[in-house]
Amino acid sequence: MEEIDKEKLPRHIAIIMDGNGRWAKKKNLNRISGHMKGVDAVREVVTACRELGIKVLTLYAFSIENWQRPKEEVDALMGLLKEYLLRECEEMLKNNIRLFAIGRLEDLPTDVRETLEATIQKTEKCDGMILNLALSYGGRSEILHAVCGIISDLKKGILKEEEIDPLLFSNYLWTRGLPDPDLLIRTSGEYRVSNFLLYQIAYTELYLTETLWPDFNREELLKAIADYQSRERRFGLTSEQINGLEV
Ligand code: IPE
Ligand code: IPE
Ligand code: MG
Repeated sequence: MEEIDKEKLPRHIAIIMDGNGRWAKKKNLNRISGHMKGVDAVREVVTACRELGIKVLTLYAFSIENWQRPKEEVDALMGLLKEYLLRECEEMLKNNIRLFAIGRLEDLPTDVRETLEATIQKTEKCDGMILNLALSYGGRSEILHAVCGIISDLKKGILKEEEIDPLLFSNYLWTRGLPDPDLLIRTSGEYRVSNFLLYQIAYTELYLTETLWPDFNREELLKAIADYQSRERRFGLTSEQINGLEV
């Protein structure tokens, strides 16, 4: 069991849940079975984060690029998402979890979108943890969406050019109101960000593991958090400055 310092928990954990397909292939199963097992891992990790006291958990569930996968796989993923939302709503309410979603939600099939919006609404008053799902999400699209919002507000005169700074820009992103991730986990041994939270991860600590997403569990999460807690976040400063030792 990993030793976790409850005083130094990451406020926001973001996860690129990758490797469902390879997990299934290794077991001679179809890719969809990998996604189904992936949902079980989601449940375990959401529960673990809530119990630990993590404030925000963002899960990369479906990218804009993922729409180009075979139709059967996309349909299955959408079905699993809807099923997850319907099944977990009670659990979220019971555990005080508020659901958020970021991405081009208008791309989702109508029934999935309606279920998503209903769940977001039902959990609106929960304030224990935010579970933020990235759905039809792409970091570049999010940044362009923010730019368009800024241009529109400039035109309307609501915003002045000199007011634009990195913090204001964040407020035009889909993640507005959420702190930047402290820890980004990617499973399945890939060393890339795949268009995830490009603006927000400027100073995020990265944790990459070979573990495939369906095998990721509470223990793996604790390992990632322990690793995070062993690091020194310098934000461009010197170690001495961070530790208050500068002369
Ligand atoms: C992650 O697993 C789930 C989604 C991207 C929706 P993958 O389906 O990408 O699994 P691999 O990378 O093919 O193993
Ligand atoms: C990233 O995984 C997207 C999600 C986990 C939803 P991908 O499997 O789509 O990423 P690439 O294609 O390997 O970069
Ligand atoms: Mg993948």
